[in-house]
Amino acid sequence: MTLMTEREQAQLTYRDQTFALPVLEGSEGEVAIDIGKLRRDTGLITLDPGFVNTGSCSSAITFIDGEKGILRYRGYPIEDLAEHSSFLEVAWLLLFGELPSTEELEAFDEDITRHSMLHEDFKRLFAAFPKDAHPMPTLASALGALSTFYEEPRSEKQIRQGIVRLIAKMPTMAAYAYKHSIGQPTIYPRNDLGYASNFLHMMFATPCEEYEVDPVVARALDLLLILHADHEQNCSTSTVRLVGSSQAHLFASIAAGVLALWGPLHGGANQKVIEMLEDIAAGGGSAKEFLEKAKSKDDTTRLMGFGHRVYKSYDPRAKILKQACQDVLSRMGGNSQLLDIAMELESITLEDDYFISRKLYPNVDFYSGVIYKAIGIPVPMFTVMFALGRLPGWIAQWLEMRNSPEFRIGRPRQVYIGATERRLS
Ligand code: SDX
Repeated sequence: MTLMTEREQAQLTYRDQTFALPVLEGSEGEVAIDIGKLRRDTGLITLDPGFVNTGSCSSAITFIDGEKGILRYRGYPIEDLAEHSSFLEVAWLLLFGELPSTEELEAFDEDITRHSMLHEDFKRLFAAFPKDAHPMPTLASALGALSTFYEEPRSEKQIRQGIVRLIAKMPTMAAYAYKHSIGQPTIYPRNDLGYASNFLHMMFATPCEEYEVDPVVARALDLLLILHADHEQNCSTSTVRLVGSSQAHLFASIAAGVLALWGPLHGGANQKVIEMLEDIAAGGGSAKEFLEKAKSKDDTTRLMGFGHRVYKSYDPRAKILKQACQDVLSRMGGNSQLLDIAMELESITLEDDYFISRKLYPNVDFYSGVIYKAIGIPVPMFTVMFALGRLPGWIAQWLEMRNSPEFRIGRPRQVYIGATERRLS
């Protein structure tokens, strides 16, 4: 990992003093003012609601160029990994920094296969939830509960075991949550199936009849998991880092990430997109009318799946997903009405100044729901699918934070604007 280099200095003049602040440069030419000693030297702090301009860390895991629509995991373009890699290979790359050898990947796959079962007591945990519980809080609760079954992973060996258990067991937890919500018995993982196929089998098999996994569906799911695997310091990843910075349990940090991802402005958007497309379809399918509402200041409607804090151009993942939608629907003969509406919405926005001036383009959530629906994933499970994909990224970021020489507990400052001192009597 190439460390940042101090390229030059920035001058800050405040009242009658001028301060020199180091300017650091990353491996892709990004530059940042190092304010690590700002308050000590000047008494000042910075203020940046939503952290629009504030970097929380340096990282060697994922690079995004929002202006050019570039996304790379450990230097490999997302387009290459989507076409040539597998989810477990990408997970290894994110976690350990290099692509695994054939032997390493086989051993990793075998390790994960052999840890995919849950302790039988988990069934009582899932049974305690209401039938209509959303699967995201159920999943987060199960992840928190996982830390009661295994001792705190402290040593490198224990952390490695914890990583395998998380990646192996989260699909089982997700499928258990779904089966509970439809009143069906849970299906055990099978050691003869690959990662995506095993999840699909646990989701859709029943004790009454076999469920043959369609290889087209399994490959589409593997692609979706790859595309969601990491995305630098997004809301849920920053949550995992902040919780992990208190030296909280790895499983607890991931459970916090799941809950942050659930928000409709973040991972929850993929569920909102499909509900939006279905509402437009049910209302006669006028994309134009809907967009007028999304543009109106008097209307809180948003074009879900559009816009991004970092991408001010087309999200490269959305580009890949749009093509994958067409491939999966044509091979599976699914109903393309929702995809047609999505593509009509997109084509109108590309000509509309409201979206162009604000640089609002489709993000990863805009097309992902159309594929999830085409491969039979129920809508309430869409954000769970995002979490399954993001898991190796969260863990990799947590590991990088915990192993960083800059490691310390995260504790932001504030500017107080409340009442000044006043006494009771
Ligand atoms: C993900 O960070 C990541 O990397 C996240 C993610 C990942 O992989 O982890 O990529 C996954 O979370 C993708 C985003 C999913 N969310 C949505 O699709 C929800 C819809 N999008 C927005 O709510 C919004 O675009 C955000 C939340 C994604 C970004 O919000 P910002 O950067 O704070 O931008 P903003 O809300 O300040 O919007 C700027 C302007 C505003 O208009 P003005 O006040 O300037 O007039 O653009 C408008 C907004 O009203 N706007 C939209 C819009 N998104 C922004 N108007 C209509 N529809 C939208 N979708």
